[in-house]
Amino acid sequence: MTLNKMLKSILFSTSVFSIATALPLDDFSDIQGPYCETIGCCQDRHDGCSVPVLGTLCYCDEFCSHMEVEDCCPDFYPVCRNINITTTIRPFVTTRRPQPPPQSSTSCLWNGRTLFYKQKVKDNCNICECTDVGGRLEMLCERNVCLIDTNIIESVNLEQDMLGWRATNYSEFWGRTLDEGVRYRLGTLIPQAFVMHMNPVRRIYDIHSLPRSFDSETKWPRYISGIQDQGWCGASWAISTAAVASDRYAIVSKGLEEVKLSAQNLLSCDTMGQQSCEGGHLDRAWSFTKKFGLVDEECFPYVAENEPCTIRRSGKLVESGCKPPRFSERTRRYSVGPAYRLGNETDIMYEIIKSGPVQATMKVYHDFYSYEGGIYRHTDFGIGQQTGYLSVRIVGWGEEYTSRGVQKYWKVANSWGSQWGENGYFKILKGVNECEVESFVLGAWPRVDRKILLAHGQRNSNRI
Ligand SMILES: *[C@@H]1O[C@H](CO)[C@@H](O)[C@H](O)[C@H]1NC(C)=O
Ligand SMILES: *[C@@H]1O[C@H](CO)[C@@H](O)[C@H](O)[C@H]1NC(C)=O
Ligand SMILES: *[C@@H]1O[C@H](CO)[C@@H](O)[C@H](O)[C@H]1NC(C)=O
Repeated sequence: MTLNKMLKSILFSTSVFSIATALPLDDFSDIQGPYCETIGCCQDRHDGCSVPVLGTLCYCDEFCSHMEVEDCCPDFYPVCRNINITTTIRPFVTTRRPQPPPQSSTSCLWNGRTLFYKQKVKDNCNICECTDVGGRLEMLCERNVCLIDTNIIESVNLEQDMLGWRATNYSEFWGRTLDEGVRYRLGTLIPQAFVMHMNPVRRIYDIHSLPRSFDSETKWPRYISGIQDQGWCGASWAISTAAVASDRYAIVSKGLEEVKLSAQNLLSCDTMGQQSCEGGHLDRAWSFTKKFGLVDEECFPYVAENEPCTIRRSGKLVESGCKPPRFSERTRRYSVGPAYRLGNETDIMYEIIKSGPVQATMKVYHDFYSYEGGIYRHTDFGIGQQTGYLSVRIVGWGEEYTSRGVQKYWKVANSWGSQWGENGYFKILKGVNECEVESFVLGAWPRVDRKILLAHGQRNSNRI
């Protein structure tokens, strides 16, 4: 039994109670002390700082003013923090009344726990405090919408078979507000209107030649970037751009220019009209990459912060202190041709098969943060209305037989770490523009070194 449970049982067993004054009265007068008054208050948690109470120990240390500490002595607040929560105990009861609920006295009862005056606890993303409300102590909690909403998880999992996906609690999201999620886990600003009206490129291919499933990771195992974690920085715009460019460098050069490009390069140096960890525009990210090129990750590693641009914005790789690449003669930064837009489902598929992963932007609803696996479609569970845009990397597609029949999906790389979703990836309904994921899909051609391409051709012909 914890001390708090004992206190609670005492609270409930007190049969007579006096309310002679408007002041709150102490509930557990019979175990009131002195404890801290005798041994004093101390800093660290050690046995010297504890006193026996009710067959266990209570403590008088600094942790008692923290949240969630359950084993503090009843006189901790008056003695160690000089907060007078005790009142005179009247030995003789003048009026007999039924026992008031414990909340109305000098402690708050909350989720089965007894909390002292001013004690705080965190309930997911909200801080609750035992507060004096007109002479009564009550728990008052903040009213933020939390990023992880247990109602969403329960509702989704209850309808799992119909919905086609599962939800879970992520410890790195627990305790955060939906606002923080929208601000720092997304980070793609909607493109300027003229970009949205940009005409998609036209592709000529036979629709029936496209396979039912395709996975860049299987086709080009070594060339596809791993899953990154953007941290609490709205950097999906930079991460997805750098990753799509990296994948395409490796694919188009057939592995001769395998490189992991620096998202921090964009985050820190592409500042014109961009907002670093507060989000960025994809068209601007691609224009920057086209104009100046990017350095590699090793040269400017990701720190998930709005760090100043510590490298030169342009020029040769060595001029920014980057090591020359090991397997190519490249001296220039890694740049790309103009980004182009892909207009529909089959164009996107054809593009991925031909040139590798593409970048997509999707609208993120409250339930998406809790995605665990399956084919995602958004629901209206949860009370959070805030949405935002996330940019991601589509690496492939497939089909699954479900209770709804055959469901087509995209396989998409997110930037929330590999603990999230299906090893960092998620599946989303394909062909129906779910969450607008097919509305703004971009590709760009890497500027692979000509010499490298030629050398490559040479090597191949030598082998034949
Ligand atoms: C604290 O409470 C005691 C009675 O328990 C009272 O005598 C004393 O004046 C109070 N002190 C303050 C600072 O309110
Ligand atoms: C979610 O995870 C956090 C951290 O692991 C945990 O403290 C919390 O109780 C969990 N919430 C639910 C509803 O399971
Ligand atoms: C997509 O657009 C191309 C032309 O760019 C067209 O040939 C193809 O049929 C379209 N696909 C679908 C699914 O509408």
